[in-house]
Amino acid sequence: MSIHIGAKSDQIAQTVLMPGDPYRARWAAETFLEGATLINDVRGMLGYTGSWKGHRVTIQGSGMGMPSLSIYANELIRDYDAQTLIRIGSCGGMQPHVAIRDVIIAMTASTITSPSSSFFKEFNFAACADYDLLSAAVAAAKAKGTKTHVGGIYSSDVFYAERPDIDEQMTRHGILGVEMEAAELYTLAARRNRRALAILTVSDHLQTGEALPSEDRERTFGDMVEIALEAAFT
Ligand code: HPA
Repeated sequence: MSIHIGAKSDQIAQTVLMPGDPYRARWAAETFLEGATLINDVRGMLGYTGSWKGHRVTIQGSGMGMPSLSIYANELIRDYDAQTLIRIGSCGGMQPHVAIRDVIIAMTASTITSPSSSFFKEFNFAACADYDLLSAAVAAAKAKGTKTHVGGIYSSDVFYAERPDIDEQMTRHGILGVEMEAAELYTLAARRNRRALAILTVSDHLQTGEALPSEDRERTFGDMVEIALEAAFT
């Protein structure tokens, strides 16, 4: 057990998929894993372990935002020795060629602040994905025929942003989408020498104001889970 995860030490796999939403963790585990067993329900942040094509996998909710993800990722790494952590989540599109339902595989994650900013001080750490995971995910997405973009994303501290100039600068610098977790995941993985990747479905668009209807989210979310599993075990 760790402070926020109730699983026994042998109940968490070395490969962990991390959706923000704990109910998505349950849905993904029940849909894609064999023998999925609930291994955590502390604070309702559900986690399940099962197997996929003979490989042991945990799917653990991260909650929303970098501080929440940071708690779970730190404990998964430190207390359960997780080696590969893949965020599967949603993001807002920031480029005209990025459409609702497209998948973004995040090569880098820019931030203004993150839980690590206080000790990085003046240093701007370039949070980036594990290359092997990234290239395997791109190959898996191509094989599935999923419309996929690979590039930089922005991990924001706020969903309800009050600074349109930040979005403008991000868009101007080619950032594909905005979410709230990946930069901290990439930073922690770098610090602890683990592998990390974020795979995101575009659920809304900052420029067009479109949003994915909730009934469509499950199907596109399923593509991401499969891409993540293929990438983890390639
Ligand atoms: N902003 C921040 N995080 C998000 C968004 C967004 O528009 N969409 C999904 N996650």
